[in-house]
Amino acid sequence: MNMHKYEKIWLIFGVTSLLVFLSVLGVSAFYMGNQPPSCLTTINPEKVDTTKPFDKPGLNKVEGKEWDYELVFVASAFSYNPTKVEVPKGAKVKIIATTKDVIHGFEVAGTNINMMLEPGYISEHIATFNKRGEFLVLCNEYCGTGHHMMNSRIEVVE
Ligand code: CUA
Repeated sequence: MNMHKYEKIWLIFGVTSLLVFLSVLGVSAFYMGNQPPSCLTTINPEKVDTTKPFDKPGLNKVEGKEWDYELVFVASAFSYNPTKVEVPKGAKVKIIATTKDVIHGFEVAGTNINMMLEPGYISEHIATFNKRGEFLVLCNEYCGTGHHMMNSRIEVVE
C-alpha cells in the first residue's frame, strides 16, 4: 500500500494522541483513584430526614468497614446540614450526601471532591484529609436565588 508521507505523519500523530489520552485516563482512574460519583443508591427525597443515615447528619464513627467515619450531609435550598463539622486528620472518611429538593453541588474547595447531589439519589465519595485546616464546601450547581450563599465547612483537626 502506498501512503503519502503526510498521511503517515498524521496517522502516527493520531495514534500517539490516543495512547497518551488513554494512559492519562488509566493513571487517573486506577492509580490516583479518581472516579465519577456513585449515585447508585436511591432514596425517597421526601423522607430524607427519617431515612438512615440522613436522620443523623454529621460525622459518625463506624466499625468493621473499610473506612473509619461516615460524614453525612443533607443539602437543601440554600444550606447544608451540618453547616460545620470537624474531621480528624488522616482518617478515612466516607462522605454520604443527598438533597431534599433540587439539584445541588458538593465541592470541597482545594480537593478533588466534587459531587452532584440529585433528588432521589445518594452520592458517595471516600476521602482522607491529610492536611490540617478549614475546607470550604460549596454548591456549584445553580439552585436558586440563594445559591451563592450555600456553603459548609469541614475543619480538619489533629
Ligand atoms: Cu445549592 Cu447552588
